[in-house]
Amino acid sequence: MSFDLVIAVDGPAASGKGTVASRLARHYGLPHLDTGLLYRAVGVGAMKQHGAIEEATAERVAAHITQAHLSEQALMTRAAGELASQVAVYPGVRAALLKFQQDFAAKKGGAVLDGRDIGTVIAPHAPAKLFVTASPEVRAERRWKQLSGLGEGVSLEEVLADIRKRDERDSGRDAAPLLQGADAALLDTSQLTIEAAFREACRLVEQARGSIKS
Ligand code: DC
Repeated sequence: MSFDLVIAVDGPAASGKGTVASRLARHYGLPHLDTGLLYRAVGVGAMKQHGAIEEATAERVAAHITQAHLSEQALMTRAAGELASQVAVYPGVRAALLKFQQDFAAKKGGAVLDGRDIGTVIAPHAPAKLFVTASPEVRAERRWKQLSGLGEGVSLEEVLADIRKRDERDSGRDAAPLLQGADAALLDTSQLTIEAAFREACRLVEQARGSIKS
């Protein structure tokens, strides 16, 4: 018997979840959605419309987000990450983005989604769930290298402070906070190369599939 392979990949900023998710998607031949892009698009869009982050505007923008909004290079900036984390606390924004994500997760054959609440809220019945993490220092260094590569002049200390602030906001909010679900397998990438993290992720997915089949 075959079943749709939905893989939920959650974790904090710059934990390596996006890289792991995109490698898993390629490996299993599944579509991949980086759900952080949805919140980034809402944050950037709301800022453009209103000049500040405010709930009603953010909800209106969220209601009109489509796949076409997700490929803008501006979404990858440090500022966009901060705006995303701010709009992500609004329950109305999360509700407006729910259907888009659940439709993606319901694709025939399956899908890989990465974010903060995929295994807990978006796809609670996913057969494979990973919680990818790494120490704040390792994550800050990764994000700093990525931002420097994009031409952003920012220090490692500033990025570490951003990461700590975002962790606190993402984990401390009432609406779908970032947390490791009881049924999600932990993958700590602090000491792992990308290749090693990917191999371990495959092993965990296979383990989860095996326990579903048996
Ligand atoms: O993964 P990222 O850094 O692109 O995410 C940006 C912000 O979006 C993150 O700080 C919190 C929010 N987010 C969320 O609340 N839920 C998700 N499923 C994905 C992202």
